[in-house]
Amino acid sequence: MSEPGLRTQLAAAQETIRDLQGELAETNRGLVALALELEARVDARTADLREAHEELERTNSELVQLTLELEDRVAQRTTDLQAKTEELRATSQQLWQAAKLATMGELAASVAHELNNPLATISLHVESLVEEAPPTGSAAGRLAVVAQEVDRMAGLVANLLQFSRPSRQQISSLDLNEELDRTLDIVLHFLRRGRVTVAREYALDLPLIHADRQHLRQIFLNLLMNAGDAMPGGGTITARTAVAALRGKPAVAVEIADTGSGIAPEHLARVQEPFFTTKPEGKGTGLGLAICRRIVGEHHGTLDLGSAVGRGTTVRIVLPVANGTNGRVVADEPGADAPAED
Ligand SMILES: Nc1ncnc2c1ncn2[C@@H]1O[C@H](COP(=O)(O)OP(=O)(O)OP(=O)(O)O)[C@@H](O)[C@H]1O
Ligand SMILES: [Mg+2]
Repeated sequence: MSEPGLRTQLAAAQETIRDLQGELAETNRGLVALALELEARVDARTADLREAHEELERTNSELVQLTLELEDRVAQRTTDLQAKTEELRATSQQLWQAAKLATMGELAASVAHELNNPLATISLHVESLVEEAPPTGSAAGRLAVVAQEVDRMAGLVANLLQFSRPSRQQISSLDLNEELDRTLDIVLHFLRRGRVTVAREYALDLPLIHADRQHLRQIFLNLLMNAGDAMPGGGTITARTAVAALRGKPAVAVEIADTGSGIAPEHLARVQEPFFTTKPEGKGTGLGLAICRRIVGEHHGTLDLGSAVGRGTTVRIVLPVANGTNGRVVADEPGADAPAED
């Protein structure tokens, strides 16, 4: 091929190459634009996804929070329910106890009633036999034992009757220190024989209270005898009185504390049950504290027992000063009725 022909072809080829380069550049720009657009769309999508993810995490933590709250509330409700169940159990036990007490009271009343008259007859006959028997003979000794045992039975019957059908209250104004002293007069020699000393810690400014004298003395007697029994090797009884308050009103407190054997924890809840006794047969009827509790209740007071095994027992009784609704206040002389109080 001639040289001019070659040049023409070269020029054409160069032209073609330029055209191709132009097209290439154009395509390249197009691709760059596409890539940018895609990148922007991916970014936008990623942002959307992140937002959705964050939203999901927020919802999730709210759910976790809600679950925790719910768990808390369920736990709280369960505790409430358990407390209510326990309360219900205690109440039904109390009801059962009350029913048991009522039945026992009726039973005790009927048995005591049945025994009262024959015992009185036996006692009368034994007395006349004692009088008739030659004082030196062996019969006198045996009859003395019979008389003693009959007295013990009569005591038990009287206790039962007191427990099941308490006598009508005779309310008068009393000085508790005085009543404690009078009761101690009765038992002091007995306690001293058992090497028990009595310390009196009386409040001097004690107000008078409205109460039944005999019933109060019976409480003190029961408590002092219990304290004495708890100290077979001797010890100290502290009889304490103090000014107190009960349900926001003036009251007086009496404590009989001993340094005796104490009450086993498993017995503490039962000692006020009628007929519960740990004393040997023939010694205790198990009615003492039940009677105390009843009398204190009739005076609208409270009775609490605290005890530590081997260290001693303290019985604390709080009685309201004005004994409002529990009966008519009568003067110290029986029969001289005073107007009812409220
Ligand atoms: N101060 C005390 N120290 C240790 N135990 C006591 C005390 N007081 C009462 N108890 C226990 O409580 C039980 C019941 O007492 P509660 O006075 O009711 O009946 P009791 O003394 O056994 O018989 P009762 O009083 O009829 O003669 C006693 O048997 C004893 O186990
Ligand atoms: Mg007793």
